[in-house]
Amino acid sequence: MSALLEVKNVSKAFGGVQANSGISLEVPEGKIIGLIGPNGSGKTTLFSSIVGYHPIDSGSIRFEGSEISKMRVRQIARRGLLRTFQQTRIYGGMTCVQNMLISTSMRDQTLGRLFASQKSGEHGRAEELLEFVGLYQKRHLMAGDLSFGQQKLLEFAMALMNEPRLLMLDEPTAGINPTLINGLIDRLKHANTTFGITLFVIEHNMRVIMNLAEHIYCLAHGELLADGKPEEIQNDQRVLDAYLGAH
Ligand SMILES: Nc1ncnc2c1ncn2[C@@H]1O[C@H](COP(=O)(O)OP(=O)(O)O)[C@@H](O)[C@H]1O
Ligand SMILES: [Mg+2]
Repeated sequence: MSALLEVKNVSKAFGGVQANSGISLEVPEGKIIGLIGPNGSGKTTLFSSIVGYHPIDSGSIRFEGSEISKMRVRQIARRGLLRTFQQTRIYGGMTCVQNMLISTSMRDQTLGRLFASQKSGEHGRAEELLEFVGLYQKRHLMAGDLSFGQQKLLEFAMALMNEPRLLMLDEPTAGINPTLINGLIDRLKHANTTFGITLFVIEHNMRVIMNLAEHIYCLAHGELLADGKPEEIQNDQRVLDAYLGAH
């Protein structure tokens, strides 16, 4: 059986900058897979390529066996492949619940549907998921008034609203208060085990990714440097050198 997501030999340059170079990796169904690497190593570029945000220069990206590298963002999202951003994308002037509802109406490309005719179950599901990420008490507050960490939790809940098969998270714990990080790790694991969502996670916090992922890929200078189980990656001299050399 082929993996849910298969990236083969993907390269992407921005002008003279080779952001990704011949990257190959796999995300099997049902797993939590990590992607690490120093700043500027090409992690976010790879996510953007996978979700169709920009065309790749060469290589292949398959989701459930279908080539998606020439598809557009919406086409790919409709297949159940979603990502969150390093900088959150929420609507500050809307409440949490409204943000939740608009996230699914965007998927359906029918923005007007939001306030015109809410599907009865959607409002309930929005509240359930806000409860799941710990934002139920704040559901009627403007999203712009939440802390940055809470906005990231809202963005996570918004992604879940779309029932993705594969959710790619770009540094989900960045900017989150350390005391809230363990709760977020638990919720990510719960989304994986209970909702059956496969996760592909970029993470800067080593403790988090070691605790979360079953298999970790490490990029450096746009290339795949190493991959393995958390304990292998943790002790890989090439990985340690890449991080030391970067700062
Ligand atoms: N839209 C863009 N235009 C030009 N250069 C870019 C763009 N996006 C990323 N880059 C460059 O590509 C490299 C990889 O960046 P990025 O994928 O954001 O790395 P990471 O997420 O690992 O920090 C960096 O040198 C960055 O400056
Ligand atoms: Mg990045």
